[in-house]
Amino acid sequence: DTRDPTSLRTPIVAVLGHVDHGKTSLLDKIRGSAVIEGEAGAITQHIGATAVPLDIISSIAGDLVDPDDFDLPGLLFIDTPGHHSFTTLRSRGGALADIAILVVDVNDGFQPQTLEALEILKRSQTPFIVAANKIDTVPGWNATEDAPITETYESQSDRVRSRLDESLYEIIGNLSDEDLSADLYWRVQNFQRNVGVVPVSAMTGEGVPDLLTVMMGLSQRYMKEEMEIDVAGPGVGTVLEVKEEKGFGTTIDTVLYDGTIQDDDTLVVGGQNDPIVTDVRALLQPRPLAEIRTESRFEKVESVSAATGIKVAAPDLADAMAGAPVRVVRDRPLEEVVDEVEAELADIAVDTDEQGVVVKADTLGSLEAMADALEETELPIVRAEVGDVAPRDVSVASTAEDQKQQVILGFNVDVLGDADQRAENDDVRIFTDDVIYQLIEEYEEFVDELER
Ligand code: GTP
Ligand code: MG
Repeated sequence: DTRDPTSLRTPIVAVLGHVDHGKTSLLDKIRGSAVIEGEAGAITQHIGATAVPLDIISSIAGDLVDPDDFDLPGLLFIDTPGHHSFTTLRSRGGALADIAILVVDVNDGFQPQTLEALEILKRSQTPFIVAANKIDTVPGWNATEDAPITETYESQSDRVRSRLDESLYEIIGNLSDEDLSADLYWRVQNFQRNVGVVPVSAMTGEGVPDLLTVMMGLSQRYMKEEMEIDVAGPGVGTVLEVKEEKGFGTTIDTVLYDGTIQDDDTLVVGGQNDPIVTDVRALLQPRPLAEIRTESRFEKVESVSAATGIKVAAPDLADAMAGAPVRVVRDRPLEEVVDEVEAELADIAVDTDEQGVVVKADTLGSLEAMADALEETELPIVRAEVGDVAPRDVSVASTAEDQKQQVILGFNVDVLGDADQRAENDDVRIFTDDVIYQLIEEYEEFVDELER
């Protein structure tokens, strides 16, 4: 057999940004445009992701994208809700996303979660562009549905144009405050060195052709080699979310970035304690909207290949962690795969000290990000775990010798009822937030007050 077993997978695109800045709307718009192009069904809704094939991108982008210039199969978009942490998007070697779109509302500008997203993109060295969204809200805007930005820009009055320019230059200024050199995308030559800003409207579709063109070009230019995978090989992925589903028990929403996963595979999944070894019970995809009235929201599939989002139902997943690795065993010694998963987990594990604060976070990636941030402030950590704040965390925190360390810092987690009560009794302070630097600021204020 002389066939080349490798093939090019779809690049994974994370869509990030502050709450309500328009991430979901942007993806809805792309899906909607495809329907108008008469290509409904070609875009497939995956678990936690939307796959847009190259021919659809080309029909939306019009003259801007000639499919003959590309050999990547399209783009897989992962929508991350602003109130969630997108730090789950990690994989072996760093970022799960190959590229990212940072969505910024032109009226609202940079906000806490915009900055947090930027930090994570910088740290993981993920190439990204900025979508300056909601340009249709500039007073006096004259919309041309689904037009490329250059075209729609020309049809605005001078006054409207200068209002838009002001907002765009503010965003460019904000990026430069973060040591990123940025410019309007059509002026950017090297997207590795400069951040391109694409003005868009998820409402009118203006700029969406440009956005897709830039993303496609960026992937093709800079990451083609990284997209070469052995599609038929054993699957490798990351847990996005651990979820209870009626009729299926605990399931893991997983992004597969390498190989294939089949409905009779054995998996090794990173867990709270030891790696979990389990057999797939079902692979589930969302049912197409037209069929949604049947009893299950999901349909079973036999096998899926990277890159894709898939829900995996299997026994013993209760201890699985968001952000943890998932690996298919298939034709390999189990031990070898367990070792791989353990090595990957050890790589992310936070170093703890004899004394320090307790840190809880919703995912492995966010725990890692918290640990990095605390290291910069030289605050030691005695215990770092994925999960909600529980009474036993309070017990640990209460043993700290220094009052400044009788503290639990929770990122994107809940405080279980009895933990709150316990903390009050034991004089332990619990801080929670969904923005890391705000969490640290709250803690620092507390320390200032203690020292006053
Ligand atoms: P979270 O998932 O909560 O973080 O928000 P999101 O970033 O997904 O924002 P979403 O797409 O839900 O949009 C928030 C609001 O902004 C909705 O009411 C949208 O209709 C509106 N919106 C989004 N994009 C645009 C746009 O381009 N123009 C206008 N006028 N409104 C928009
Ligand atoms: Mg959303």
